[in-house]
Amino acid sequence: MTYETASELLSQNGQSQVLKFWDRLNADERDALLAQIERLDFDSLSRMQNLMANPPAPEGGNPEAPNVVEWTPELYAEAKAVGERELRAGHVAVLVVAGGQGSRLGYDGPKGCYSIGPVSGASLFYFHARKIVALSRKFGVRIPFYVMTSEVNNAATVKHFEENDYFGIDKRDVIFFIQGLWPALDQQGKIILDQPGHIFMSPDGHGGTLTALLKNGCLEDMERRGIREVFYFQVDNPMVEIANPAFIGLHTLRNADISLKLCAKRDPYEKVGMVVVRGDRFGMVEYSELTDEQANRRTETGDLYFKYGSVAIHIFSLDFMKLEANKAMPLHIAHKKIPVCQDDGTVVKPSSNNGCKFEKFIFDVLPDAKTVLNVAFDRNEEFSPVKNAEGEDSPETCRRDLQAKWARWFVAAGMATPTVPLEIDPAYAMDAEDLAAKGILLRD
Ligand code: UTP
Repeated sequence: MTYETASELLSQNGQSQVLKFWDRLNADERDALLAQIERLDFDSLSRMQNLMANPPAPEGGNPEAPNVVEWTPELYAEAKAVGERELRAGHVAVLVVAGGQGSRLGYDGPKGCYSIGPVSGASLFYFHARKIVALSRKFGVRIPFYVMTSEVNNAATVKHFEENDYFGIDKRDVIFFIQGLWPALDQQGKIILDQPGHIFMSPDGHGGTLTALLKNGCLEDMERRGIREVFYFQVDNPMVEIANPAFIGLHTLRNADISLKLCAKRDPYEKVGMVVVRGDRFGMVEYSELTDEQANRRTETGDLYFKYGSVAIHIFSLDFMKLEANKAMPLHIAHKKIPVCQDDGTVVKPSSNNGCKFEKFIFDVLPDAKTVLNVAFDRNEEFSPVKNAEGEDSPETCRRDLQAKWARWFVAAGMATPTVPLEIDPAYAMDAEDLAAKGILLRD
């Protein structure tokens, strides 16, 4: 792109300020800025400005709680058999979203590289990847692992996998793909420069997964490999039961477009999304979108009516993903402190919010889904995310929960409750049953 084209494009879109330092830039800085301008998506930009000018009213209406499947031993066994067939047939792919900035944890690197193993110090990625190794071995099949990164953390993520020999997965089955970046806008809807020759950009949210899969050829790659179901999860939860056969199986049996694992909320106001139904359409609401009456409503048995929260453990059918990848998803706005380059070229980090970042959320595909399956799960078994540096949902609580889970497996396998720090490689045992099968070895 030439300076003239960039200048015209920006002026047509009311963004000429992007070139205001042009005369001061050297040749490399000019090339880099032109490359950034070339990648700007002006359609999304005008949607962002519209959103700032006309924030949408909350949907309101009369949301109802969805049906949620609670496992019975019979249903579990039936679904497990179907899921195992799907896995063995090579129909299942695994996808982790790991492009976030991890600002609450405050770790200087991709969150997936964070050391969480209570004994080994192994990373979050290790625990995910080793489960895929276990599944591949058990079902004698290659399971592709798609890892969504951002431009900011892609190189470090790939390096971490390389240094660890892809944790035992065949390198050809680990596919990194980079999510999109969006500019931030100031209160007047203008693109913000954080250096004289650089537009401030941030990841477009986990909802950017679908566009990124499409743009990077991953949906085609899945199709070529014969994939039908994609297991989706977030990088910060090492307790996740990746591609659990019963979950995969029930998704298949119900012919669902999307399946969600839901867990009982800690309290009526826990900050998790909730699946709701409005008429014949599903959706997700934040805790803040429910009235006090709705949040505290009880059923006849005394349970919360909106009992379950979503923690972003999903299965998508590939056909549904392909359909959604071509649609423009809704945008969400977040008011943030964004570094700004002043007229004299110095950069100021503001102390209060001065601009807006925009994100897409993956659950915004829900209203388009014809069949949605919600399955209840026990958070003690499958969910303990690393979000904060300390306190709730921190490395400390996560290590504690991992060890408590492994200790339960020991007891279930007929061994004493461990009294020393404990860690189990997921490729050695994926669950209590696996460990029990190896228990003889352990006791010898
Ligand atoms: P969070 O919303 O918890 O964000 O992301 P985060 O970046 O990990 O942490 P904070 O909020 O800055 O402290 C949930 C999941 O979605 C991924 C994250 O990597 C995490 O797995 N994510 C989030 C993306 O992949 N891209 C994004 O743009 C945002």
